[in-house]
Amino acid sequence: MSQVDQATWRAVLARAASALGSSLEARRLLEEVAGLDAAGVALALDAPADPAAVRCLALLVERRRSGEPIQHVLGHWSFRTIELTVDARALVPRPETEVVAGHALAELARRRAERRVEDASDPGHSPRRAAALAAVDLGTGSGAIACAIVSETSDVRVVGVDSSSEALALAAVNRDGLDPRAADRFALVEGEWYGGLPVDLRGALDCIVANPPYLAEQEWPGLDPVVREHDPYAALVAGPSGLEAIEAIVAGAPAALGPGGALVLEIAPAQNVEARRLATAAGAFRVEVARDLAGRDRVLVAQWTPGARSSRQSR
Ligand SMILES: C[S@@+](CC[C@H](N)C(=O)[O-])C[C@H]1O[C@@H](n2cnc3c(N)ncnc32)[C@H](O)[C@@H]1O
Repeated sequence: MSQVDQATWRAVLARAASALGSSLEARRLLEEVAGLDAAGVALALDAPADPAAVRCLALLVERRRSGEPIQHVLGHWSFRTIELTVDARALVPRPETEVVAGHALAELARRRAERRVEDASDPGHSPRRAAALAAVDLGTGSGAIACAIVSETSDVRVVGVDSSSEALALAAVNRDGLDPRAADRFALVEGEWYGGLPVDLRGALDCIVANPPYLAEQEWPGLDPVVREHDPYAALVAGPSGLEAIEAIVAGAPAALGPGGALVLEIAPAQNVEARRLATAAGAFRVEVARDLAGRDRVLVAQWTPGARSSRQSR
């Protein structure tokens, strides 16, 4: 084909959008094959399309049309400030989980402020207080939450625990893609919930964060086929009631947290009342449920022991 006969990116984009029934997805795939960002695509629309990139786009459009999630077709997806590799080894990180990570970061910021007050009132500065803040991401999957925490802080160490070796292999890819100053603070352990926690962290955690499976077995057949066929069953389904993982994580939290530490747990909106009840019954003195970006009850935050009064509180 001569340069004159070549289709423009605009025409290629229109064809892809019509095949996919989504101009947004067509743009994302076009950005991928053209190696451009959104602004670059906008500037290139009337330029002739590169034939090799057009062939590549046709393959991606076909994969998407056959039911693969857009995230798997692209092979990467953004989560807060980072770009993660995503594939069938672990759940594709969801937007509501970005909110969960934000609450974990807020609890860690609270603990950081409390530590300063504790240090100021203890001129001896015990080694425990001088150490980095400690968190665990239970059911780390792709490592999304842990990667976000170590990327957005400089003093938090996170252990990511998962029972799936495949998920852990993907989490390792994501960790190793971070700036080494962040990656060095993220360790991975294969295990069942708190069973994977290193002994020295038991009773010393500043934050437990988890997005556990929370669907009931009977909900699985009714899920969107794109989810059912491409996300791992064990990442989504907890058991007959859907509350099994939440119960285990709440029950183990008081023994795993250090003074002032908090549990930040993603839940399904309908589990709001039961999740509050579980945390209260386990002795938590502070129990809150925060909403996701769609306004749905989504994040249980629970605390069992007070930390030092922050400087703002003590004024
Ligand atoms: C909903 S996915 C969350 C993945 C990731 N944290 C995220 O938010 O995208 C739940 C994760 O919990 C893991 N998991 C399920 N049961 C577990 C158990 N008993 N112990 C540890 N991890 C478990 C699954 O393998 C899966 O990776």
